[in-house]
Amino acid sequence: MKLATNKQQLSGTIHVPSDKSISHRSIMFGSIAHGKTTIKNFLRGEDCLSTLAAFRALGVSIEDDGETITVHGTGFEGLKPSKEAIDVGNSGTTIRLISGILAGRPFTTKLFGDASIAKRPMARVMNPLNEMGADCTGREGSEFPPLTINGNKELKPLHYNMPVASAQVKSAILFAALQAEGETVVIEKEKTRDHTEDMIRQFGGRVDVSGKEIHLQGPQTFTGQEVNVPGDISSAAFFLVAGLILPNSRIVLENVGLNPTRTGIIDVIKQMGGKIIVEEVDKENRSGRITVETSDLKGTEIKGEIIPRLIDELPIIALMATQAEGTTVIRDAEELKVKETNRIDAVANELNHLGAEITPTDDGLIIQGKTALNGGKVTSYGDHRIGMMLQIAALLVEEGEVELEKADAIAVSYPNFFEDLENLYGAGGK
Ligand code: S3P
Repeated sequence: MKLATNKQQLSGTIHVPSDKSISHRSIMFGSIAHGKTTIKNFLRGEDCLSTLAAFRALGVSIEDDGETITVHGTGFEGLKPSKEAIDVGNSGTTIRLISGILAGRPFTTKLFGDASIAKRPMARVMNPLNEMGADCTGREGSEFPPLTINGNKELKPLHYNMPVASAQVKSAILFAALQAEGETVVIEKEKTRDHTEDMIRQFGGRVDVSGKEIHLQGPQTFTGQEVNVPGDISSAAFFLVAGLILPNSRIVLENVGLNPTRTGIIDVIKQMGGKIIVEEVDKENRSGRITVETSDLKGTEIKGEIIPRLIDELPIIALMATQAEGTTVIRDAEELKVKETNRIDAVANELNHLGAEITPTDDGLIIQGKTALNGGKVTSYGDHRIGMMLQIAALLVEEGEVELEKADAIAVSYPNFFEDLENLYGAGGK
């Protein structure tokens, strides 16, 4: 599709779409709990709809009246074998987390997805789950999907030092540990998003966390809850950056989730000299309002423990760095290579094609600023976050056109992205 180019004076308010990570988990916890769970502000993006369909296939009754989702859970033991293989679409969170749940169920499930899923590494979840007593295998002896999960009702607890910083792997192990008899200990490589731990507590369970060490005593049972999903800071990120880098702009983002394991981008914006105001409006739901304004940005270094706190925001942070004075260096982010696409290569290839000066490295990117961007033909590689980043980049292009291939991937996490953007330049922008 042809992208909007040459815009400035973005102004207005956006109610960002609901959090993808929390939406997935609300269906999962609702399904394994006993009783009724109601979910308000569930993200109806393709990924979360894959999770919803997967649990329906496993026999869970889930109603959707267009506003509230109601899940009638009957516990882990209420899950039934799916008649057909389960299609997870493009969703890494679905396939990895559901594997942890199915690892403890006494039946076989086949899980498959799209061309991107078929390339996502799964040994990281299969190894610990197999150590616990499940039998998980990939396609033709490989670690790649389609996966076959032969669950085991008698899982053993695990003591596990995680080789990668991944909330998906951690969550898969915790879901299995909730069904095992005894104490599981998981030691994270770096602290990652803790929505699973939060929801274990919200649904009436117990998990003890001290720094990077997590202790969980199984088995546990849960009771249905009312969940209200806050907005997704990973979706807000595109407009945070747009407001900072486009001339004469001011954007207000409402209801943004502010869980500290997710707010690394706010720290980086401050570090780069961006004008940003964060107000926690709803303390209980840890969400609030973020306001950004056009700013003079300077390059920075992003590495170490902050990386998991902004892993999904690195493509748009890279774009922001092309508009900052000086060099920005991103390190310790090799996980970017195994996302929906290789995001190190995708960011460097596509932004360089539009005139940026970015060098890909083994574990990150080196970005020279400040560069003017030109028109060209780019692709999202079927990756929603690359697609949205390229649309924000296109807004900076003063002359020439930007054509985006595979723009439909954006519906994975932000179905109304283009509408929300148009409202910002419609409201006084040009
Ligand atoms: C997610 C964890 C992250 C993130 C993904 C969502 C989650 O993946 O990139 O978009 O909901 O747990 P990893 O665990 O592979 O880092």
